[in-house]
Amino acid sequence: MTPLPRHLLPLTADVIGGRLHVGGCDVIELADRYGTPLFVYDEVHLRERAREAVAAFGDGATYASKAFLCRAMAQLVAEEGMGIDVSTGGELHVVLAAGTPSDRITLHGNNKSVDELARALDIGVGRIVVDSFEEIDRIEELVAKGASQPRVFLRVTPGVEAHTHEYVMTGQDDTKFGFGLASGAAHEAVARVRSSEAMELVGIHAHIGSNIFLLSSFEKAIERLAPFVLPLALPELSLGGGLGVAYVEGEEAPTITEWSGVLRRSCAEHGLTAKLVVEPGRSIAAAAALTLYRVGTIKELPDIRTYVSVDGGMSDNPRPVLYGSGYEAFLPRATEAERPLVATVVGKHCESGDILVRDAHLPADLVVGDVLATPVTGAYGHSMASNYNKVPRPPVLFVRDGDVRVVVRREELDDLLALDSD
Ligand SMILES: Cc1ncc(COP(=O)(O)O)c(C=O)c1O
Repeated sequence: MTPLPRHLLPLTADVIGGRLHVGGCDVIELADRYGTPLFVYDEVHLRERAREAVAAFGDGATYASKAFLCRAMAQLVAEEGMGIDVSTGGELHVVLAAGTPSDRITLHGNNKSVDELARALDIGVGRIVVDSFEEIDRIEELVAKGASQPRVFLRVTPGVEAHTHEYVMTGQDDTKFGFGLASGAAHEAVARVRSSEAMELVGIHAHIGSNIFLLSSFEKAIERLAPFVLPLALPELSLGGGLGVAYVEGEEAPTITEWSGVLRRSCAEHGLTAKLVVEPGRSIAAAAALTLYRVGTIKELPDIRTYVSVDGGMSDNPRPVLYGSGYEAFLPRATEAERPLVATVVGKHCESGDILVRDAHLPADLVVGDVLATPVTGAYGHSMASNYNKVPRPPVLFVRDGDVRVVVRREELDDLLALDSD
């Protein structure tokens, strides 16, 4: 099997004597120094993607923090001119701790609590994406008690089935998110919000799903939305996130610039002139990072399968288990080597389903003790990480020009006891 395709590596990836360097750092040295598992982010890559989004969408470019969030990430996207969206009070807390200006924050969520809404109103959040009639009631009650009037989007579901995994598909009629167009709920919600003194409607929001490769899915959504959105003559239109990224050999995804071209053209074709807002998460963060593991055991089951066990697993990357997502694996000591060995890379959790890469292609000379890497783990890896089996979560490094910043430290064993009562 062929070497790892280069386009799956971060922008500054460089191979010196076979060894992978990212951000001017030898990644095996990083693994030796900071331990494994380890998330390594190429800061230049993150900034390039954020800049591309801002070049394409101006201040309508809003980073979806659920893809990957820590203080340093919130600061990075703000420095590059992006707004940021949060979908819980927890994400809001982190983003505020990072110093993000309130008016650059958008609050999402299909079940926002009164406390979450109250805090958002208190800090003067930029936009609230209203998702239900109950939420309209809650905002009205809070404003009646003295909270400031928010600017809101209404989240609608255009009835489009994006070509992606059903768990990350959100634009279809059968969904917990938003107000349905087909059912008439969206029309009713507009009427409610427009007649309310408690909030100002600035736009319609639609997010049809995540990891979408076919730009025609977005065109379909715009086509469905246009007859509803046009007569409202609102100043903004948010088309959410969802642009796909290549994870494995043979996959190719459109760029943010190409995505923008299609969205703009399609909006223009339907007479939509509102300011475009988008919320890319994966397309900013995913390919910027790789995860480094240490190989602990290699179990050959003759005529069945070879299992390669590493020191992380579903707790640092639940996507293969949740969505059946595919990844590549390679050895950073031999980045460009042929990979003839087919093996299943598994984690250390007490689950047979704890699989990271089902049919990984690896160099034949793989040995216990090797550092093994999975690329394109910058989105929905660390942010979905758990402490299952009381495995401490890995640290996160930002690397750039040979400098290393530990932006999230490794959890220690005592952190696992931090919340227990005596
Ligand atoms: C409302 C909303 N906006 C943006 C995103 C980000 O999507 P992605 O990371 O696929 O760009 C999501 C992801 O689920 C979402 O639900």
